[in-house]
Amino acid sequence: MRSMIWNGKLILLFFLLLVTYSCQNNKINEPLKASYAVIPTFQELDTLSGFFILNDAVVYTSNESLLEEINNFLIFSQKNNINVKSTVEPGVKRQITIKLSDENFGNEGYDLFVSKDQIVLTSNAKEGIYRGLTSLKQLALLNYFEGHYFIPLGNYEDHALFEHRGLLLDCSRHFFSKEVLKKYIDLLSFYKMNVLHWHLTEDQAWRIAIDKYPRLSEFAAWRTEPDGSLYGGFYSKEDISEIVAYASEKYIMVIPEIELPGHSQAAIAAYPYLSCTGDSVQVANDWGVFKEIYCAGNDSVFIFLEDVLTEVMELFPSKYIHIGGDEAPKTRWEKCPKCQKRMKKEKLKNEHELQSYFIRRIQTFLSKNGRQLIGWDEILEGGLAKGAVVQSWRGMEGGIEAVKHGNNAIMSPTSHAYFDYDLKAIDLEKVYSFYPVPQGLSTVEASLVIGGECNLWSEHIPDEATLDGKVFPRLLAMSEVLWSDSNGRDYDEFLERVYQHYALLNSMHVNYGLESIPFKFESTLSDSGIEVSIIPKLKNIVIAYSLNGTQFEVYDSALIFSAFEASKIKGFAKRKDKAIGDTMEISLYPHLALNSSIEYIIGEFSPSYTGGSKKALVDGVLGSLDFRDGRWQGFFGEDVECIIDLGSQREDINEIETHFYQYSNSWIFIPKELVVQISDDGISWSDWASVQSEVDPKTRGSFISTFKASGVKKAMRYLKIKVENFGKVPEWHEAAGSDTWIFMDEIVVK
Ligand code: ACM
Ligand code: ZN
Repeated sequence: MRSMIWNGKLILLFFLLLVTYSCQNNKINEPLKASYAVIPTFQELDTLSGFFILNDAVVYTSNESLLEEINNFLIFSQKNNINVKSTVEPGVKRQITIKLSDENFGNEGYDLFVSKDQIVLTSNAKEGIYRGLTSLKQLALLNYFEGHYFIPLGNYEDHALFEHRGLLLDCSRHFFSKEVLKKYIDLLSFYKMNVLHWHLTEDQAWRIAIDKYPRLSEFAAWRTEPDGSLYGGFYSKEDISEIVAYASEKYIMVIPEIELPGHSQAAIAAYPYLSCTGDSVQVANDWGVFKEIYCAGNDSVFIFLEDVLTEVMELFPSKYIHIGGDEAPKTRWEKCPKCQKRMKKEKLKNEHELQSYFIRRIQTFLSKNGRQLIGWDEILEGGLAKGAVVQSWRGMEGGIEAVKHGNNAIMSPTSHAYFDYDLKAIDLEKVYSFYPVPQGLSTVEASLVIGGECNLWSEHIPDEATLDGKVFPRLLAMSEVLWSDSNGRDYDEFLERVYQHYALLNSMHVNYGLESIPFKFESTLSDSGIEVSIIPKLKNIVIAYSLNGTQFEVYDSALIFSAFEASKIKGFAKRKDKAIGDTMEISLYPHLALNSSIEYIIGEFSPSYTGGSKKALVDGVLGSLDFRDGRWQGFFGEDVECIIDLGSQREDINEIETHFYQYSNSWIFIPKELVVQISDDGISWSDWASVQSEVDPKTRGSFISTFKASGVKKAMRYLKIKVENFGKVPEWHEAAGSDTWIFMDEIVVK
């Protein structure tokens, strides 16, 4: 009997447990922690604890014009059974109210209030509603838990800091399909960017079909690669309309770039009458800057361009048309009778003014058609046209000059915004430190900076995976610096949010890259040598190193290498036993002038190529085969003369070894000559040694040339090093007539 009661109690207990369990199973579990890791972050955020559960919610709007935006938002959350209704029905537990109001939310701004049973999204405009729904979507994805979307409670306020937030995609050097473009439009919109700057014409290809000039797509869209294969593709008018419409639904303006007067060799290959010489040329199959540009003296060129731009404007409703304007060598114009005649007739002093005439003429045409011209900062040379927008790329100076003229500027300096550059030059943190308004501008001038762009030139980006790895995660930083307020910006906090976005990027099939190079070598000078340590820059990695070709060993953070003679350290990083990033190396070359003072008498190294410091040439660390490795000092269009003070008199020196770099595609040439003079007092000098280049300037590719100048041992304290610039880019080169760079690193004194 006792045991029967006991059994009955057991059954009851089991039943109770079962009921409790199934009740709990019906209950939706909430995430343990709310994520507010939206990128770009909100302008203001008051958090409250708890969640709005998206399941079975009803979206209520009385404004039918918002249905497209709402449906776009709902696509991702179909599983959660959300309905859209125009009137609130009784008994609905969770409501999302979306409404337009007269209150001023600023450009693209919105207000989002989330409580347990109500979400209210308000804006002045459909665009603001779209941006708000994008934030809601990010919140939902970031707080997805056990099959349900959660929205953390809070009061969110948001608006855009800059009105122009773009990505330039170069689809000319390499062709990207419509599907890739749509994926990028989705991604841009997900990160609240609003401009796709579509680079459609180049020396290496013309990618947009123009009815009046069929050879542009039949011929100029294709190039014969050095290996004989044919590479190319173009966008038909239907393709372009599809892309533009797709982008427009997502509040992205597509700005076409039709390059002129330079970067136009592909068009000239199809229609040789467009150039000064009329000679037949091929669609370029190498990278660089090409001297074949549109003739500025020939009216048929302007007829061609106006025809092309007319068809372009039919396809693109954008307020702006980008006409390039960068990197146009004037070699052909200088010798062309038609161009010279034009200069005389129009009273133009030089070829820069002729370029300015060219741009002005195009601008007048665009402006008659109600469009505004954007051009690269070279359009400042020879006089800036009123109303033109300057896109500053060679630093911010062009943008500064533009706003001082009262023109608008878009900032995309090579220092922060060139996403085709290696992570060594521009990593996530560097992008995050970007601010498009330089210091020293007046309030009015500052207001003329309308925003920024990141530029993705595709010479070395042959496919979608490489593209993804270059753009991401750096685009997340660009998106935030252009949208969110800069006060209180904290890179580590941002990085924590970026980590949370990797799952979202995975689900969007983005093959994102690293945030930075995995580690860097740090060198300091000791009494007679160089000390090097390895500094990790990523989390959760193991670094392996090899000194002078020995087997790789795991690097211990305490290890410091001391080099008293020429040495090479290589290193690579692993995460979970998988190599990440490239193998990197540092070449050390201690010598007698290590850390000596150095003064430049002639020549000033470029702010873009400082070599790291004024003492880069005597720091014992050698530049590598990557001219953007930060170790090379670059001097543009000038000779270099510098004086090294050894600190005291020496009599044991008999050789100066200097290293120069050549990559003629980028106009970097080995200099003509190196001359060394010596002195006891820094006042009276005597010739000591010299050496001339033995390099054939036509040699292609990148390489380093070592100059060794030997002299007899003599008493000396000061060394004067004179380097003679190669001079203008020679006639045989595609950029003939341009100034050339000297790239040097290390003056090794032995
Ligand atoms: C440019 O990078 N040539 C604008
Ligand atoms: Zn000409």
